[in-house]
Amino acid sequence: MTMIAGVAGNPIAHSLSPAIHKAWIKAAGLDADYRAFLAPLDGFAAFVGQNRALRGLNVTIPFKEEALAVADRASDLAQLAGAANLLVFKDGEVFADNTDGPGLLAALKTQAGFDPKSGPAVILGAGGAARGAAAALKLAGSPQVRIVNRTPGRARALAASLGDGVTALDTEAAFEGAAVIINATSLGLGGGEGPRTAFQLAPGAVVMDMVYKPLLTSFLDRAAQAGHPTVDGLEMLIGQARPSFEAFFGRPPPDIDVRAVALEAMG
Ligand code: ATR
Repeated sequence: MTMIAGVAGNPIAHSLSPAIHKAWIKAAGLDADYRAFLAPLDGFAAFVGQNRALRGLNVTIPFKEEALAVADRASDLAQLAGAANLLVFKDGEVFADNTDGPGLLAALKTQAGFDPKSGPAVILGAGGAARGAAAALKLAGSPQVRIVNRTPGRARALAASLGDGVTALDTEAAFEGAAVIINATSLGLGGGEGPRTAFQLAPGAVVMDMVYKPLLTSFLDRAAQAGHPTVDGLEMLIGQARPSFEAFFGRPPPDIDVRAVALEAMG
């Protein structure tokens, strides 16, 4: 029987996940499919209930918090992140996981050889994306996660809810001695201006943008021009897809140039 998984979101038409997973399915020769599902904004739980015959679902905007809420069980990371981008349907149960965090860590390692234990991390933003990044870095042993946000109260609330090792800092102090700076705001999306925080970074500090449309954001462009190693959001997207594929189909994805596939799908 054909194994079917997919990605649920609203909107969903521009998701790159089907192109990525379909390329892996084809290269692996699996009897499987991966589809895009437009889930109703006011009925995500019912939508999940109707699709329990699938192997599972990736979940994207705006359902990641709801995905965690509908699950019977959840990984530690999904619980700390307060969100799930992966639901696995198995043994009559809905299991929620978060592979965005591992995807972020994999991207940092692949493109910049970065080890989260190597120094403090600065996260720009205090929304869901920032929360996921902070949770992943904390669990991976980051010595300190510093949250910087336009609305400082949100940064403080996020830091307080993540507990030890996560702090809200004002801009200047936050960049001192930072080993990595990650844009987790929506700034730069669609080619707009990225964060323009005036900061002095240590030489060699890694700069990452979770935004991947465009691939080279103004934030990454400025960092690269200043000589910093950079990490892009597309690598994170691929990094979250890998463990998702394995959870759906019981084997790691085959070794193909999936970045080229994703770039082609981006047009
Ligand atoms: P998500 O769940 O995708 O992270 P979100 O919860 O809407 O989305 O969070 C968006 C983040 O981008 C927030 O940190 C937001 O800052 P505020 O908390 O101050 O709203 C940040 N952001 C959005 N537009 C911004 C702007 N023009 N300048 C600075 N930060 C901005």
